[in-house]
Formats: sequence, structure tokens, C-alpha cells
Amino acid sequence: ERLPGLLAASPKAELHIHIEGSLEPEMIFALARRNGVALPYAGVEELRRAYAFTDLQSFLDIYYAGASVLLHEQDFYDMARAYLARAAGDNVVHAEIFFDPQTHTARGVAMEAVINGLYRACADARAEQGISASLILSFLRHLSEDDAFATLEQAMPLLDRIVGVGLDSSELGHPPEKFARVFARCRELGLHVVAHAGEEGPPAYIWGALDVLKAERIDHGVQAVHDPALMLRLAQERIPLTVCPLSNQKLCVFPDLSRHNLKQLLDAGLVATVNSDDPAYFGGYVNDNFTQTFAALPALTARDAWQLAGNSFEASFAAAADKRAWQ
Ligand code: ADE
Ligand code: ZN
Repeated sequence: ERLPGLLAASPKAELHIHIEGSLEPEMIFALARRNGVALPYAGVEELRRAYAFTDLQSFLDIYYAGASVLLHEQDFYDMARAYLARAAGDNVVHAEIFFDPQTHTARGVAMEAVINGLYRACADARAEQGISASLILSFLRHLSEDDAFATLEQAMPLLDRIVGVGLDSSELGHPPEKFARVFARCRELGLHVVAHAGEEGPPAYIWGALDVLKAERIDHGVQAVHDPALMLRLAQERIPLTVCPLSNQKLCVFPDLSRHNLKQLLDAGLVATVNSDDPAYFGGYVNDNFTQTFAALPALTARDAWQLAGNSFEASFAAAADKRAWQ
């Protein structure tokens, strides 16, 4: 079987990665020591043992605890450099990276430390590894729209350092409509807009992300299969879905990877892509997602692999000339 080698070697874009979800347990403890932050886990092994998730919220509780070790600009830089080195090793030539500033500003970390650390990492990785990377500021949907507006205000002086905004965290009970005004303002500012929708939430949340937030991509979106009219719209308008198979497996969105609907999405003509979401927590970076998903779903073909790589570039916010060069 030559497909795993082909998948790994193929140039690709990664469009759904939370940089705080790339913090490996070893780096969490190294940063905790460096910064004098106490953790409710004795060590790396105990922390890893806690990675037994039953749903999205059970993961988020541990993910926010892990992020609490990030204090200084250098911490954000080191985290992003480590991810970009791993991604380059997976032949990722372009990454669009989510970050959750509210997780940090709520602990007294300055917005400048977050954005400048991440941005400098992207610039250095481009110079040293040739990987292209941009940043997407993601609002936490369990917080209020006023909090999102305050966050946007703090980011205003640094807006040239991000390509867009997203919406993440606890989905159920926090529909896209809650953020209609702040997303309208972000669009006025010329930012790209994406949103997590249909990870655990119903198809109505995907409709809301499209019609109310005017999302250009849907992050996850796997629940769309339960709504044939929505499937038609996503296909006809070529709205990309940034699918994260290992994440879906670990958060019990599907009972098992062999039950994942990636093949259905592709066969319906949707612009689906494969991504890692939170690779340090879900057991793999983007190439692990490709190889494990193709192993679990024998219906996926070499043509699907080629399609997924092409989709990742089509779905990206990179310049048209770059997309042509990568494809
Ligand atoms: N934040 C980090 N990973 C996430 C996910 N899979 N869904 C929602 N919010 C997240
Ligand atoms: Zn995500």
C-alpha cells in the first residue's frame, strides 16, 4: 500500500489548528517550571492519563488548564515554533493558526504578548523553514459578545498581524447568532471570518454561521450530513469544511474513526479538508490524521487523497499566486 507514503509526502495546508492545542505535556511542564505556575497534575504521565475525553467540554476543561502556563511573549513564540517545525515535517507548506486570546488576557497576559509572540514565530518559521503561516483570532463562544468586542478592541493596533477571526469553545447553548454584531464589525474591518459549527451542535448552527456570521469556512461541520438541503448549499457554494477526524474520535463525535463521515462529505462534493485541531491532545498531527483516517476508512481512495490536498489550498486564505504555486 503506497497511499500512506503518498499522503505524508503530499504538500498540504493546515487550516484548523488551535495553537494552544499543540502544547505537548512536556512543554506544559517545562513552561510551568519556567514561569512558576502550579499545575493540578504531578507530572507528564498523570497529565496524559487525564486525556480521556467523553465530549467537547471534558476536553476544554483540560485544554484551558494546560494553557495557563503561557505568560510571556517568548512562551507563545516557543509554542508556535514547535508546532510549525512539526507541521513542516508533515509537508505542511501553509498553516492558518487559531489562537484564543481571551484564555490569556483573562489571566492578565497582554494582547501584545500573545499576538507578537505568535507573529514572530510565523515570520521566523517562514524565513528558516520556508513554511507560510497566518493567524486567526478566535472568540470564545462561552463568553459574552461584549467580551468579544473588548477583545477585538485590544487587538485593533495589531490587526495587520491576523488574517481573520473565528469562533470556538463550548458549542451547545452558544449559537452563532450570539455573535452577529461582533462578526459584522470584523467583516467591516476587512477580516476573513470562519466559525466552528456542527461539531457537536445541530445543522441549525451551521446555517447560522453561514447566514448570520457570513462564515467563509465552517470548522468541523460534520453534523451537516443530517440536513440534505444544507449539504446541497455547502457543495454548491463551495464552502469548505475543516474536518478533524482524530479530534472527532477522541471527543466521541463518532463512536470510532471507522464510522467517520469524511467519505460521505467528499462524495457529496463538499470541499472537505483534513486537519489536526489540537494535535497534542488528540494523538496526532496532520499526517497522523491522514494515515489513521485512510486506514480506518478503506473506501477512501488515492483520488480522495489528492482531492483533500487540493481542497486544503483552495480553502485557504493565501494569495491566489501562492495557491497556484503549491497545487
Ligand atoms: N478549542 C480548541 N479545540 C476546540 C474544538 N475542537 N472545538 C471547539 N473549541 C475548541
Ligand atoms: Zn477546533
